[in-house]
Amino acid sequence: MSEEPAPARPFDLVVFGGTGDLTQRKLLPALYHHERDGQLREGSRIFAISRQDLGDDDYRDQADGWVRRHLPAADIDGEVLGRFRERLHHLQVDATEPGDWASLAAALTDQPERVRVFYLATSPDLFGPICQHLAEQQLNGPASRVVLEKPIGFDLASAKAINDKVGAVFEERQIFRIDHYLGKETVQNLMVLRFANALFEPLWNAAAIDHVQITVAETIGVEGRGAYYDRSGALRDMVQNHMLQLLCLLAMEPPVRFQEDGVRNEKLKVLRALKPLEGDAVAKNTARGQYRAGIGDGAQVKGYLDEEDIPADTRTETFVALKLEIENWRWAGVPFYLRTGKRLPQRASEIVIQFRSIPHSIFHADAGRIPPNRLVVRLQPDEGITLQMVSKAPGAGRLRVRPTALELSFAEQFKVRSPDAYERLLLDVMHGDPTLFMRRDEVEAAWSWVESVLAAWAGSDDAMKTYTAGTWGPSTAIGLIERDGRTWHEDTG
Ligand code: BG6
Repeated sequence: MSEEPAPARPFDLVVFGGTGDLTQRKLLPALYHHERDGQLREGSRIFAISRQDLGDDDYRDQADGWVRRHLPAADIDGEVLGRFRERLHHLQVDATEPGDWASLAAALTDQPERVRVFYLATSPDLFGPICQHLAEQQLNGPASRVVLEKPIGFDLASAKAINDKVGAVFEERQIFRIDHYLGKETVQNLMVLRFANALFEPLWNAAAIDHVQITVAETIGVEGRGAYYDRSGALRDMVQNHMLQLLCLLAMEPPVRFQEDGVRNEKLKVLRALKPLEGDAVAKNTARGQYRAGIGDGAQVKGYLDEEDIPADTRTETFVALKLEIENWRWAGVPFYLRTGKRLPQRASEIVIQFRSIPHSIFHADAGRIPPNRLVVRLQPDEGITLQMVSKAPGAGRLRVRPTALELSFAEQFKVRSPDAYERLLLDVMHGDPTLFMRRDEVEAAWSWVESVLAAWAGSDDAMKTYTAGTWGPSTAIGLIERDGRTWHEDTG
């Protein structure tokens, strides 16, 4: 059993996009784990909404298959899955059909008091219309919550339009904007590392830190999501949300409490302090590329332009590297290098905090090189923390120094399954805790920063380079950091 308490009351969870990829791969497996861990109160129900003509039993059979396919066999307990199936219902709803919305309302009205969570795992164009229909059926009362999956819009204007439409019928406290990176155990651990240890915080500033690197590398390509991805690209898909959120947690001032507005106010201040990248600064501080045919996960893979649903002349980037600065007292002058891409050599997400070099070495010149200390936080896989230090090499002879590492592996330390991000976030929605969700102003501040980069890119197609699948992106990404006399962290490139 998990230590996390079950929500106090039974709930009704209504998932729009009930047969979609996210529901299959993430939501149902996460909910199954909650069933197994006793976190779904008796009577809680899950309604999957789609346009398909499916009865409850058809849907339950499909869901059974998805849960088995997306979880390790050892996690599946037939009895638990049997119980879980009974909670599932399918409703056919066509957004343009008023009668369908009335039947959704009718399915829920027998339990007027309970918490209702509407999970919108659909295209963002539908967020506004769905919320409007829910309001027409009076399903937006104080006990209702709405969860919005990313992307929240395509740019600042569309994000504002979505936020306006959703905000017209739900109050901000009822709106949960998901960034699943915030639900990752290791991402939450960043806050614990910083604010539950006295050791790091006094050093967490420009006086002690030389620079920061954030890498989110994937080996996968666009995985059948070509139509979505090509409109998006790496900057919109990964940087606007996940990577800027990581940056915020790393760079923010200590919140007064680990509580919704405490954390969100501090993150917002970081976004607002980001130095805008505009005009010529964009070419100098960004690198982007598209993968060509090469190696992916050990096999020969095609290039981006040959993937399904990708136009032959597209300029969408599958890799981006950026150099950012935060204009405030804590971080003035400290560069933050970010990079993310598809079809890179390994799946590795990590944060590297590189401290300044020692001011002077007291050891004789051939004692060995004294590299600066680095704190490496591995977000996935192999979650853990490494503190790179320098130690004396053993031996009675002339003193020599060697790089060494203090290692913390979460798997070895805690020996428990690390829950998927969606497990944590779904439970938070049911508890009504928005701390790990994005507030409207954060989403809009992030879009506002990203937009000037997109605008400059639109006028400079020649800066788009290609890279072979299975390599660390275009050479311009290496140039971006090496120009400053620094290198990407060697374990990941
Ligand atoms: C999603 C992006 O938000 O995050 C995907 O749309 C990406 O393109 C995914 O693959 C990465 O998430 P994770 O949890 O696998 O690192």
